[in-house]
Amino acid sequence: MTTTQASLFDNATAQPVQQTSPAADLDALGKIVRECRKCRLAELRKNVVFGEGNPKARVFVIGEAPGADEDAQGRPFVGRSGQLLDKILFAIGFERKEVYIGNIIKCRPPENRNPLADEIDCCKPWLMQQLDIIRPDIILLLGRVAANTILGNTLSMSAMRGKLIRWNGFDCFVTYHPAALLRNPNWKRLCWEDVQQLRAHYDTICPNG
Ligand code: URA
Repeated sequence: MTTTQASLFDNATAQPVQQTSPAADLDALGKIVRECRKCRLAELRKNVVFGEGNPKARVFVIGEAPGADEDAQGRPFVGRSGQLLDKILFAIGFERKEVYIGNIIKCRPPENRNPLADEIDCCKPWLMQQLDIIRPDIILLLGRVAANTILGNTLSMSAMRGKLIRWNGFDCFVTYHPAALLRNPNWKRLCWEDVQQLRAHYDTICPNG
C-alpha cells in the first residue's frame, strides 16, 4: 500500500502504518499486531501468529486460527495441517514461500475451538490490512469458517467450493481445510479439483508467473 493508495476496506485503517514497501509495511503491522490485547485470546497465547510468506504474493492463503504447534512457534500452518497444506500447494506448482499464509484470527483459541464472533470482529481488521498491503490476485479460503468470514455469508462448503467467487476485487476459491481432509480423506479429490481450478485461473491471469 503506498501513501497515495486508498485502503480497500473501511475498517482497515484502524491503526495506520507508515507505508514504504509491502515487506516494510507488513513488518510494521506485525509489530503492532504482536502487541494486540483486543480480546481474551491474548491472555492464553504463547505467540501471536501474524502470518508469513511473500510480501508480493499473488496468492494469499487464509486458514482459520492457529493450533498448538502454530501457537508454540508463532508461525502459521506448521503442524500436521501445515504439512498437508504444503503438499497441496506443491501439487499445483507453488512453493510455500511464493504465497502468503495467514489466518482469520491470530491467536490460538483454547482447545482449538472455533473462533467466537467477537474474537473474529477484533482480529479481522488485521487480516484486512494484510490484504491491503499485499493486494494478491487470488485468495484461497481454507474451510467454512474462513470462507464465511471473508465472504460474509453463511453458505455451506458445497455451495462455495468448486468455483471462482469475486469478493472486493479479489478472485477467491474455497476448499476444505487441511484438518478436515486429515479427518475425512474422501474430500481430498474435491480439494484437488478446487486447487487445480485455482492454478488454471492463476495461469490465465498471471501468464508469466
Ligand atoms: N489451522 C489453521 O487454520 N491455521 C493454522 O495456522 C494452523 C492450523
